[in-house]
Amino acid sequence: MLRAMKLMPLSEKREAIAQAARRIIDFVAARPDAVLGLATGGTMEPLYADLVAAHRAGLSFARLRTVNLDEYLGLAPEDPNSYHSYMARHFLDHVDLPPENAFIPRGDLEPMRAAAEYAGVLDRLGRIDLQLLGVGENGHIGFNEPGTPLDAPTRVVDLAPLTIASNARFFAPDREVPSRAVTMGTAAILSAQSILVLATGEAKREALATAFDGPISPECPASYLRLHPDCTVFADHAAGAGLMRLCA
Ligand code: GLP
Repeated sequence: MLRAMKLMPLSEKREAIAQAARRIIDFVAARPDAVLGLATGGTMEPLYADLVAAHRAGLSFARLRTVNLDEYLGLAPEDPNSYHSYMARHFLDHVDLPPENAFIPRGDLEPMRAAAEYAGVLDRLGRIDLQLLGVGENGHIGFNEPGTPLDAPTRVVDLAPLTIASNARFFAPDREVPSRAVTMGTAAILSAQSILVLATGEAKREALATAFDGPISPECPASYLRLHPDCTVFADHAAGAGLMRLCA
């Protein structure tokens, strides 16, 4: 079984987040004009707080270009549940990254057009230098759900019932979670020069164990990361408890 993913020693949640943030901070300091792939989700909120703190301490994002993994279809950028709003709230409104350098799919366009436009953005930017990734409870990366082939393009996707259920916690009770999204495909994610995964909490235990120790299969898109030559995983004790191999 291939085991190319590098697992950092498991630590407490805050420490795992701080270490992942430190990697990104060091990367931006060394490569200020790079293309950085960004992720959303609850896991990443404290990581963005660390990036904002680094900016307040002097780190500039002014020359960076960022590309987000995904966006819900049917939500306008200004919708509080959109990933545009998430990124503004947790990161973009607090740093010096020019808004025109931050790319996120549009959820309010006709779906095929939204996907085609975002694929065009990714083509124009070229290879992503460092891609930050979370993992879904079902092993998704971005919104590449189970069943996604290795070389899937940037496209419109139907969200898995488990994804809709677990993301419902971010939506007001009277609001439905969108059932479709535009996601960067596995092909673009896996062609990033380096990948950094952050997984915390017990809810990620099974997905992480399958990604590391199960078959490399469309059933767990995160397992494809084992095929990547430079993928580092930061996990806390709760997320990493099911792993057969406990450190790098
Ligand atoms: C969403 C995002 C993923 C993210 C996942 C995990 O589904 N599209 O990119 O990895 O959530 O989110 P959380 O950190 O909230 O568990």
